[in-house]
Amino acid sequence: MRRILVAGNWKMNTGRADAVELAGGLAECHSESSSVDVLIAPPFVWLEAVAEAIRGSGVLLAGQNAWCEPSGAYTGEVSCEMLADVGCGWVILGHSERRQLLGDTDQLVSDKVSAAHAGGLDVILCVGETREQREASETEAVLSRQLLAGLAAVDAETIKRLVVAYEPVWAIGTGLTATTLQAESAHAHLRNQLAVRYNSEVAESTRILYGGSVKSDNAAELMSQPNVDGALVGGASLSVESFVAIIDAAREL
Ligand code: PGA
Repeated sequence: MRRILVAGNWKMNTGRADAVELAGGLAECHSESSSVDVLIAPPFVWLEAVAEAIRGSGVLLAGQNAWCEPSGAYTGEVSCEMLADVGCGWVILGHSERRQLLGDTDQLVSDKVSAAHAGGLDVILCVGETREQREASETEAVLSRQLLAGLAAVDAETIKRLVVAYEPVWAIGTGLTATTLQAESAHAHLRNQLAVRYNSEVAESTRILYGGSVKSDNAAELMSQPNVDGALVGGASLSVESFVAIIDAAREL
C-alpha cells in the first residue's frame, strides 16, 4: 500500500511572518499518527524558522532545489548537506520552473538527485510535458526521458528514497488541471517505466504525485485514481485553509 503524500511547494512566496504562521497553522492541524504524509517546501531563507514552527508535528520539510556539490565556490547556491543541517529531510528537484527558467537540464537534475541521496535527503523528482509537447503527442516520450535521466544514478535500493511528481507544465499555475484520465494515463506510463527500468516491486512501491492547479475541489477526484499517490500543490498550499482541505480530502480516500 502506498501512503498518500500531500506536498506544498511555496515557490518564491511568503514573508518571514507569513511563513511561520502558515507552518504553525499546518502543524496544529497535523499529527504524526495521520494516515497521510504532509510536506512543505518554503523558500530557503525561511527554512530555519519554519523548521522551528513545525517541530514535533510530523510535517516534513523540503528545500525547493539544491546544488549538486556538497560545498565550494558556487555563489548563490545551497547544498543538500546545508538543507539537511537546517532540518530538511527532503528536496524537490527538476521542477519545470527550474527546467524552463533556471537552466536545469536532465543531466543537472540527475547530478542533483545523486547529491541529494549522498547528502541524506529524500527526493521529489518532477517531470512533465509542455502544452506543445502534448499537442505533438510527445507526452510519453518526454516523461520517459525526464524520468530515466533523473534516475540514471538511482538503484533499486535508493529509489525507496524518491517520489516522482507528474506535473504537466500547461497545468501549473494556470487553473487548467489535467483530467483524471490524462493524469491517470501519465501516471500509469511512469509506473510502467519504473517496472521496465527496475522491477515490478519498485514500480508498485514508488509513489507518483500529481501536480498542476490542484485545489480542494479537484484533489479528491485526482488522488482517487489508482496510480495517483498524492499531490504536489503550489498556489493552494499558501493558505492553511486550502491546503488542509486537500489534506483532508486525501485522508478521506
Ligand atoms: P500550482 O503549482 O498548484 O500552483 O499549479 C504546482 C507546482 O508547480 O508544483
